[in-house]
Amino acid sequence: MPKPKKHVFVCSQSRPPGHPRGSCSQNGSSELLQAFWQELQKRNLFDSIAVTYSGCIGPCDMGPNVLVYPEGTLYGRVTKSDVSEIFDSHLLGDRPVERLLAPEEIWN
Ligand code: FES
Repeated sequence: MPKPKKHVFVCSQSRPPGHPRGSCSQNGSSELLQAFWQELQKRNLFDSIAVTYSGCIGPCDMGPNVLVYPEGTLYGRVTKSDVSEIFDSHLLGDRPVERLLAPEEIWN
């Protein structure tokens, strides 16, 4: 198996209805994950990019959240319509999509 150049983690955590933290699942992460996998397949990038679902990444209120390694770039409120741009700009072009970046303060 080739080592991926980029690894995309899509938070797919779910929680019971009414849970105070909410969840990325409740905000559409399942559709988003499918969109990432479809784009990966469409572009046939299986040898260089990995897309994996994950549990809670942390800032649940700004989900669905997507974390890209090796940079550790966190995107928030990502939608299906952002997926193509994330591939073009970040995963293939090494330029993070500024408008989707999580604020630095969340890491404090
Ligand atoms: S549930 Fe996705 S970041 Fe917490």
